[in-house]
Amino acid sequence: MAIASALIIGAVTGCGSTNANSGSNTENTTAESDASVVEKSTTESSSMEATNEVSIEDAGAASSEEVAAKTSSAPEGVTVKGITERNDEMRDISPMELVAEMKAGWNLGNTFDATGSDGLSAETSWGNPKTTKEMIDAVCEKGFDSIRIPITWDKHMGEAPDYTIDSAWLDRVEEVVNFALDDGMYVIINSHHEEEWRIPDNAHIDDVDAQHRALWTQVAERFKDYGDHLVFEGLNEPRVKGGEKEWEGGTEEGRACVNRLNQSFVDVVRATGGNNEKRLLLVTSFASSCIKEAIDGVEIPSDDHIGVSIHAYTPYAFTYHPGESWELFIWDGTHNNEIAQVMNDLQKTFLDKNVPVLLTEYGAMNKDENTVAVEKWVTAYILRARLKGIPCFWWDNGIYNQQGEKFAIFDRKNLKWYREEVVDALIKESYAE
Ligand code: GLC
Repeated sequence: MAIASALIIGAVTGCGSTNANSGSNTENTTAESDASVVEKSTTESSSMEATNEVSIEDAGAASSEEVAAKTSSAPEGVTVKGITERNDEMRDISPMELVAEMKAGWNLGNTFDATGSDGLSAETSWGNPKTTKEMIDAVCEKGFDSIRIPITWDKHMGEAPDYTIDSAWLDRVEEVVNFALDDGMYVIINSHHEEEWRIPDNAHIDDVDAQHRALWTQVAERFKDYGDHLVFEGLNEPRVKGGEKEWEGGTEEGRACVNRLNQSFVDVVRATGGNNEKRLLLVTSFASSCIKEAIDGVEIPSDDHIGVSIHAYTPYAFTYHPGESWELFIWDGTHNNEIAQVMNDLQKTFLDKNVPVLLTEYGAMNKDENTVAVEKWVTAYILRARLKGIPCFWWDNGIYNQQGEKFAIFDRKNLKWYREEVVDALIKESYAE
């Protein structure tokens, strides 16, 4: 019942309701059982607290004022990376090494991905304020060292065959990318709500592929001199809207079309040369889903700098489902295994083959202020991802109490945190060792 309605809601909301199948699958096939994970977590947290005392005092060159600012923003007892110097190098390191440097990720959602208008006003068309350097600084100081910037290019592109991107839109995106790079963060440029035209089926794929290539050629050209802190993610939840198995891994045809788009994204970015020859490029599954059928269908392009981007709002009943069930309000660990299952599947499918995975979207909605439950859930989630070496990017769309998907943790208008206990738990677990 719950699963059936979760699927329906998923289809309506556009969430990659990947958890629909993972929830029912209790088979834990890797050596690490869920019980051992929990045990490890307890040991780790106490040793982490012991070392943190030292690391805060050790904050080095920072003035005492800076240290105070840092400790008041970051959760108590945790030394976060905070704002560091910009690094424009393109190092000769493997994708696994690069991804291992990322601690905690945050999405600048419902901003450049908004489809409300063309022109620069699109940025604020879904109700979020214009992005400022102060906002990015606050996110970074809290401990998020990585940021995903979802961007919809659709209304900002001209006609075929050139599909010229509006240079003012690209300039503004570049400005915000630089806000984060200037803080020493890792930045993912993602091409987001293109699903109205980027339809992965045989009837559309030739035209779609031409536009997709034109899009990524232009974006890649603009950023080809940037260092390895900048990552490109070719697609977001690519799927046929309302189509067969939209949130259940798609059809064979759909998966083949997504593989074609993944490959052409890699081809055109590499062809622009410069640092793009070695830039980390993220490919994805049908609908960016983490269910087995979807991830098993991903053909990894043959290339030395590839990672996989997946979305997992797991378990969906807890993170998202607005119906009446116990999962709405509490997190008592009963469902930890569903999270472990997703991580194990990602490990076997990608990590074991040396292909890093980034969970570029996860999060849990605010449901009647169930903050304590979300705090427990996010600790359980990040722990299991961290043990596999998977960085996670919280989906923050700026919506907390208003109508809509209430995923926000950061109050961008006031530079404060909603559900600060959740954010602190998230950061603390991300920095545990
Ligand atoms: C996907 C959608 C976005 C939605 C989010 C959470 O990223 O593109 O619109 O808010 O998932 O459901």
